[in-house]
Amino acid sequence: MQNKPVALVTGANKGIGLQIARDLAGHGFTVLVGSRNLEHGETAAKSIGADARALQLDVTSQASIAAAADRIRSEFGRLDVLVNNAGISHAGEPGRSIAEIANSGRPSVASLDEVRAVFETNVFGVIAVTQALLPLLREAPAARIVNLSSDLGSLSMNADPSFPPRAVFGAVYSPSKTALNAITLALAIELESTGIKVNAVCPGFTGTDLNNFEGTRTVQEAASQPVRLALLDENGPTGTFSNEDGPLPW
Ligand code: NAI
Repeated sequence: MQNKPVALVTGANKGIGLQIARDLAGHGFTVLVGSRNLEHGETAAKSIGADARALQLDVTSQASIAAAADRIRSEFGRLDVLVNNAGISHAGEPGRSIAEIANSGRPSVASLDEVRAVFETNVFGVIAVTQALLPLLREAPAARIVNLSSDLGSLSMNADPSFPPRAVFGAVYSPSKTALNAITLALAIELESTGIKVNAVCPGFTGTDLNNFEGTRTVQEAASQPVRLALLDENGPTGTFSNEDGPLPW
């Protein structure tokens, strides 16, 4: 087993995940850059430096998840931080604008195939990856799990007519993040006695492929809170949902 702590960031070949991986490497972790496409993961890992390694990981494939878990155990012998970052905002043609995503995701017209595909990645993928890696995380001295959620998943915020983003609250992406929040809380409750801290975080509206680069925050700004939650000390919270301004309503 290696002495340096090990962190896995899913979907870290680009966007906010790549920045989280970069920042965690800067904080002394060996970072595993999860990527569906190994080549993209290797390019991303190389851009971070010697502390980063690519790890083939498709969060919708049980075979890929099992192989990744085996590799982490045999090659690194430990896992201290899991950042469930991989996510999709729709399952249609790449490059859709936010307006197009919002319109096709309205509850009156949303394709069930698309709802299922987005839940497969954003919700079931998180459950599957977390279950496969929990044995390793339980062995770590102070494991942390961080789930990349969104204020678009907050029922309380979107029930408020004065919350502008509610204009795109639909039946696809938003409820996938609501469900992810529920899973975060359930896992935090189950693991309370173990010292493993599980938190959900909203990185804010960030310019990435997820929103056709319409987001206004930088990936550096977006990564700061997930990284903070990955580095929590033993007095840090568990079972929370927050952004950089503090707790968010579920
Ligand atoms: P992005 O599209 O740049 O990155 C998403 C990453 O997930 C990519 O690396 C992609 O390859 C990966 N991914 C997708 N499906 C996967 C699968 N089946 N297996 C493994 N990896 C997969 O988007 P971004 O913005 O960096 O998103 C990261 C997280 O932040 C997502 O969970 C997203 O929902 C969340 N988020 C993003 C916001 C934004 O404004 N960009 C706002 C709120 C939350």
